[in-house]
Amino acid sequence: MCMHSHARQKLFDSVLCTMFLCSSPGSGINSGNHDSHGNCCGRRRSTLALSQAVAAKHADGKEKFVVVLVIGGAGYIGSHAARALKSAGHEVIIFDNLSTGYEFLAAGFELVKGDVLDPAALARVLPRADAIMHFAAYAYVGESVTNPKKYFHNNVEGGLSLLNAALDAGVKRIIFSSSCAVYGEPAKVPIEENIPRQPVNPYGVSKLFFEQALEAYDRAYGFRFASLRYFNAAGADDSGEIGELHEPETHLIPLALRTAAGLGPELQVFGSDYPTPDGTCVRDYIHVNDLASAHLKALDHLAAGRDSFAVNVGTGTGASVQEVITAVEEATGKRVPRKMVPRRPGDPPILVANPAKAQGLLQWKATRGLRDVVRTAWNWMERRRETAAR
Ligand code: UFG
Repeated sequence: MCMHSHARQKLFDSVLCTMFLCSSPGSGINSGNHDSHGNCCGRRRSTLALSQAVAAKHADGKEKFVVVLVIGGAGYIGSHAARALKSAGHEVIIFDNLSTGYEFLAAGFELVKGDVLDPAALARVLPRADAIMHFAAYAYVGESVTNPKKYFHNNVEGGLSLLNAALDAGVKRIIFSSSCAVYGEPAKVPIEENIPRQPVNPYGVSKLFFEQALEAYDRAYGFRFASLRYFNAAGADDSGEIGELHEPETHLIPLALRTAAGLGPELQVFGSDYPTPDGTCVRDYIHVNDLASAHLKALDHLAAGRDSFAVNVGTGTGASVQEVITAVEEATGKRVPRKMVPRRPGDPPILVANPAKAQGLLQWKATRGLRDVVRTAWNWMERRRETAAR
């Protein structure tokens, strides 16, 4: 931790101790937090104290900040959230096993290399955190069908390992990367949060399991959570320094951009006989920085001591595969050679969010559309090619 962060950390500890822990005799919140000399001997404390401290800091007009443990912060969405947190004045610790993440995406942050399935590694870092953002999960729908063991091991067992370690450390605020995959094939779109959750693949099942574990831990232990149900995350930071990087890449936008750049094969369009206006699948593409800002809003909400919740994080506007290809051709000025192929198993025809709940609850709204998504994704790809060519 840098000196500045360390000083801030100590200030935060002392504010918490003075305001809520040391001065709350009989409240029960400070038991075990002080050594025999009455000094604060750790950052382990109740989340009630955290929410009160944050609220008090707001009222005082002083800087508010919390320490956020970003699990999977060296990955695509986690790295964008980490930057957004830092810009907002929070302190970030990234925890990542680098199995699908990249060290350079975590540049500028404290990076703890560790696995969610390793309770000892989590126990070392969690006492320093006020809240958790959990991005670490495998996320290929097709792979989850052929290798469910991998998905249940990491996303379910790993998720529970994290949850239990957090409970032991007294960190009871978590923002979870859920997915619209929990809905399965919804009968009605735009999708509202209260429809039945009926996932149709093991990836969606793993996300639903974790949502339900959070609900149970909330009821039993006062664990406060935000389940953010992402629609199709896409695009990149305007800096061009971080962006989407998957190996293998299976997502439509990066594949279409590669094809436009002449770096990939002809784009396969999976299905042209869907019940949609042009016959291709419709998705709600949400810019990754809009997703990141939803995490900040969710953090503020929980830090203010408010209740757990689940919300859709989407734009409310759908785009078909054909429309995405057109947007890619416009942004790049190049043609995307393509061929129609049969449907990809497990693809629902239309997934579009109704984002009204997030707007009402969090005052959050997507600010970028498909053109921004494609433009920033292209900028990121160009920057990577320039860097590689040097
Ligand atoms: N598509 C193609 N050709 C391709 C790749 C994709 O036609 O080469 C189509 C797909 O069939 C789909 C659309 O483009 O209709 C978007 O596909 P992506 O693979 O980009 O994204 P998905 O909608 O399959 O997956 C995303 C997230 C998952 C999440 C899922 C929810 O990546 O994590 O949305 O349905 F679970």
